[in-house]
Amino acid sequence: MSQRTLVLLKPDTVRRGLVGEVLGRFEAKGLSIVAMDLRTIDGDLADQHYAEHVERDFYPPLRTFVTSGPLVALVLEGDEAVEVVRALNGATDGRKAAPGTIRGDLSLSNRENLVHGSDSPESAEREIKIWFPDLP
Ligand code: CMP
Repeated sequence: MSQRTLVLLKPDTVRRGLVGEVLGRFEAKGLSIVAMDLRTIDGDLADQHYAEHVERDFYPPLRTFVTSGPLVALVLEGDEAVEVVRALNGATDGRKAAPGTIRGDLSLSNRENLVHGSDSPESAEREIKIWFPDLP
């Protein structure tokens, strides 16, 4: 079933010049770009997006990181897009993510792990409204 999912190419992706590489993997897989925006976010947007993590020990440095420079927010669409994107991204910790995945090939960090993908269709709906409130 065709789905939409919210993807972030986090500030490390932009800083390292990997936007083309990472976006290329999603495009090559066959997912469509429905919306895309380069922006630097403030702490309030980070808190909204990561609402379920704000009380966690790892959140303060994560908040600093995601607000540290421009990131690319996008909505991708395709068959089973939520699960497909998560599989392409790989495990959260880049040191443990399988080779062949974005994090497994390109990240050595649990925090600076290049990408975010919504973890369920319900999260995708919530996150798309936060990042692209005017998207039909
Ligand atoms: P993401 O998929 O965006 O969802 C939550 C983010 O928190 C995760 O990717 C990582 O960037 C970060 N994260 C999760 N767990 C940890 C951790 N144990 N230490 C540092 N950062 C983490």
